[in-house]
Amino acid sequence: MAAARRTKRIGILGLGMYVPPKVLTNADLEKIVETSDEWIRTRTGIRERRVADPGTTTSDLAFEAGQRALRQARLQPKDVELIIVATTTPDMLFPSTSCLVQQRLGATKAVCFDLSAACSGSVFGMVTAQQYLLSGRYRNALVIGAEVLSGFIDWTDRSTCVLFGDGAGACVMAPVSRGGILATDMGSDGRAAELLYMPGGGSKYPPSHRSVEQRLHFLRMNGTEVFKHAVRHMADSAGHVLKAAKVKREQVACFIPHQANTRIIEAVAKYAKLPIEKVFMNLQRYGNTSAASTLIALYEAVEEERIRRGDYVVMVAFGAGMTWGSILLQW
Ligand code: UT7
Repeated sequence: MAAARRTKRIGILGLGMYVPPKVLTNADLEKIVETSDEWIRTRTGIRERRVADPGTTTSDLAFEAGQRALRQARLQPKDVELIIVATTTPDMLFPSTSCLVQQRLGATKAVCFDLSAACSGSVFGMVTAQQYLLSGRYRNALVIGAEVLSGFIDWTDRSTCVLFGDGAGACVMAPVSRGGILATDMGSDGRAAELLYMPGGGSKYPPSHRSVEQRLHFLRMNGTEVFKHAVRHMADSAGHVLKAAKVKREQVACFIPHQANTRIIEAVAKYAKLPIEKVFMNLQRYGNTSAASTLIALYEAVEEERIRRGDYVVMVAFGAGMTWGSILLQW
């Protein structure tokens, strides 16, 4: 009898991250808006975040993270076949930030495009790359989530400016002979699009004196409503991938949730019955880095040896759109 052929799986060959060196603490924010370290810590869990210097772009951060991931994967830039950059803060509306990263890396053979899924960007990017790799269209992919959100934050709005940070996370993906992605889940709900959005700069409100006066070029959020959607969708999505792969919650070594708010993460853990000690959090140091968040968290969880070879890992993200998604993988 012929041996059953194992389905090809796609895994991670290398990880990288980069955050700008400048730290903005809660104490620094107390000098900018009417807030307190105590409020920010107890309502969000965030203690500090990184902010890029003026002139530093999303492609600068993406390039650094991407280069580190390629090094870890021992893949030469010239051999990269696909580059996906997930971002809500591209260098420019066009060309894509991924083309700018390609140029910096010298990845001349790669096909490059950007992906817009807000805070679900890393997960959406990885699932997209997985599909191209499974089909055999490309042999490897560099997926980067990168943001310079500090340029799109209303620094007079205390309800949003304390939440976000700048940074980039990256991974190299390719077919693997052991481990890899076992199940994925993605979802979207455009009915809730206006709970979290940036109205200006696109075709709806192109840049004008008026759009600037009306502060349309800054992020706007209905935090309380977003909170509720985030908890429900992240908990459900994590449940879907576990069920699809017939992996029990107790078998998972590490959950990597989108790093928006410790209260959201704790509520997801409670609702989805995930043991909180297995849930990785680093938002206290970086705030919400949107599309970069889950890849930065995965990178640090591996560095801190919270994830070891053979372990089951669940990444779960949620963001504007609304969008959400999960990846169950074996390390
Ligand atoms: O990445 C995915 C998208 N983003 C998220 O997942 C974020 C989701 N939302 C949240 O994390 C939370 O809703 C927030 C952290 C944004 C807010 O927490 P909350 O418990 O929902 O607070 P709230 O918006 O209901 O505000 C409570 C109070 C308000 O005062 P009043 O009206 O009760 O007097 C706010 O004005 O806290 C006030 N407040 C602040 N006070 C001090 C809001 N921001 C601040 C602040 N400092 N920075």
